[in-house]
Amino acid sequence: MPPRKIIIDTDPGQDDAVAILLALASPDEIEVLGITAVAGNVPLHLTAKNARIVCELAGRPDVKVYAGCDRPLDRELVTAEHVHGKTGLDGPVLPDPTMPLQDAHAVEFIIETLRNEPGGTVTLCPLGPLTNIATALTRAPDIADKIQQIVLMGGAYFEVGNITPTAEFNIYVDPKAADIVMKSAVDIVIMPLDVTHKALVTKPRNDAFRALGNAAGVAAAEMTDFFERFDKEKYGSAGAPLHDPCVTAYLIRSEIFSGRTVNVEVETTSNLTMGMTVADWWGVTDRAPNATFIGDLDADAFFDLLTERLGRL
Ligand code: RIB
Ligand code: CA
Repeated sequence: MPPRKIIIDTDPGQDDAVAILLALASPDEIEVLGITAVAGNVPLHLTAKNARIVCELAGRPDVKVYAGCDRPLDRELVTAEHVHGKTGLDGPVLPDPTMPLQDAHAVEFIIETLRNEPGGTVTLCPLGPLTNIATALTRAPDIADKIQQIVLMGGAYFEVGNITPTAEFNIYVDPKAADIVMKSAVDIVIMPLDVTHKALVTKPRNDAFRALGNAAGVAAAEMTDFFERFDKEKYGSAGAPLHDPCVTAYLIRSEIFSGRTVNVEVETTSNLTMGMTVADWWGVTDRAPNATFIGDLDADAFFDLLTERLGRL
């Protein structure tokens, strides 16, 4: 089976970084056509820089990285330095990138790639706010039929919100963009907090990253050492939730995840619940199912996969 061709759309972010490392460590399963940066955890100039830092950490300065939208479609940008630090990649000391940022805008890269590759052969993997994806779908509606699948990290239902009482950060930053994506009729898989909060970097798991002894393993340990503070203080978690790596792990071993195909819609008007993902998990409405909402994973299998692949870099 040939590797799946993907575009990673990202706002690094320590967990984005680990997701990118996992993808780049898995060339038999994943071919990264490009990485598109979006404003989210930190402003765009930092997410575009951090994406290149991670590519060089993986020994892949050849990967094409594009800068995309620097703000949500119709709201002020909300960032998350309180979680990820002022650089967005606090924790390890990593060198500034020397690889170039591509000249083209990320949205143009997404559109042109989908138009040029055979239909149904490119998967989009958004790991941050959905601004780039929604902008591409709006500017070029023809690409919707060309997308193989969208596997995204975002949203929450039973787990409720992490940035407000009801909303998960990626969706909250750009609810209108998320609404456009949810209504795109593309085959969508959602990795919400319901599952990512079960992918916790406990101390033994963090020790296993560090014990790899290579740059990627040690950096992953140092990133998650930093990144866990927020969730430990707020939730009393046993470690950092590895939100975004659930997306790339799904492409490699989907069988370790489970969920339901249900209707998922996004709150885009109420200030009280702005950005909430309303998942009709129990099928109590007649709203058509539009996404596979993942609720659980085999966490040990997830970390075994992740640790083994980080060890390859
Ligand atoms: O809510 C978690 C999500 O928001 C993750 O993708 C994290 O990187 C931030 O973007
Ligand atoms: Ca992210």
